[in-house]
Amino acid sequence: MQRHITLGEFIIENQKDFPYAKGELSALLSSIRLAGKMVNQEINKAGLAEITGKFGSENVQGEAQMKLDVLANDLFISTLKSRGEICGIASEEMEDFVAFDEDMHNDAKYVVLIDPLDGSSNIDVNVSVGTIFSIYRRISKPGTPVELEDFLQPGNEQVAAGYLIYGTSTILVFTTGNGVHGFTYDPGIGSFFLSNHNMQAPATGKIYSINEGNYVHFPEGVKQYLKWVQELDEGTNRPFTSRYIGSLVADFHRNLMKGGIYIYPRGTTAPNGKLRLLYECNPMAFIIEQAGGKATDGYTRIMDLDPKELHQRVPFFCGNKEMVEVAEGFMKKHNPEG
Ligand code: AHG
Ligand code: MN
Ligand code: MN
Repeated sequence: MQRHITLGEFIIENQKDFPYAKGELSALLSSIRLAGKMVNQEINKAGLAEITGKFGSENVQGEAQMKLDVLANDLFISTLKSRGEICGIASEEMEDFVAFDEDMHNDAKYVVLIDPLDGSSNIDVNVSVGTIFSIYRRISKPGTPVELEDFLQPGNEQVAAGYLIYGTSTILVFTTGNGVHGFTYDPGIGSFFLSNHNMQAPATGKIYSINEGNYVHFPEGVKQYLKWVQELDEGTNRPFTSRYIGSLVADFHRNLMKGGIYIYPRGTTAPNGKLRLLYECNPMAFIIEQAGGKATDGYTRIMDLDPKELHQRVPFFCGNKEMVEVAEGFMKKHNPEG
């Protein structure tokens, strides 16, 4: 008989896999699960509830905030704040981090960094969107307010990372450094069930995901790589096939399941690309590495980069190890200056 394992059961059964955990990290993942259910509920009825469209403001990066961006941000913050596992949170939607300095948070050891709603441009057109999260242990002294340095840690210090996709089904994928596991939400029961145990990026792939509308602005290495993926060569399975949704979570998840590479390079109009190191690239890098893949900025491992500011952007090459290494080869050959 098939055993249905809920996310809650899985966390309890695998408690030993959580570094340092004495239950706080499991409780933290439960809070994220709960907020994810709430956001899922809102997204499913978005067209009915007048919560699509622009909010009327811009976020710190000058991007139009959608109503659901703001709603998802509020839901994650209030859910995480109402429990005592974290002492602060930084979000793509807020200029500065928020320190939770009430009594119940004083001894908390963790901070969360979050992209509450990824793929904003797809909200109004019924295309998959998601949430991306990253968890670190604070480095400042417990009992004192969190500081910027707690959030500016390199990705290799992450203790957990994950994403939710609100898609054809809602799925939560996460890692604590012991493999990558996926849980599908059953809305009738209200629980996430284990659906993808120990996910592995396929050894080879033939999907490439990049916004080719920016082609003329790409570095020469990316232009040459794109030419290469489009050539005919049976030995290397080319031409590859192009798939680009415009929601990182959805593009990443498809490539993880089917084998592919995601690239958001720097361009003349976006000198460091568009994706955010702390809220998007580091968590996805942790997940893809745990699944046997690779994530770099074209030269350096994403998780070894030293963050300088909360909303820092970085070029992103992510997917099957072999595919990323070929793309890196083109960058090193045609843009050796970096
Ligand atoms: P967000 O909605 O959180 O701002 O993120 C959007 C990101 C990412 O999800 C996606 O891969 C990328 O922006 C798409 O950018 P382009 O529209 O420039 O291709
Ligand atoms: Mn995003
Ligand atoms: Mn976002």
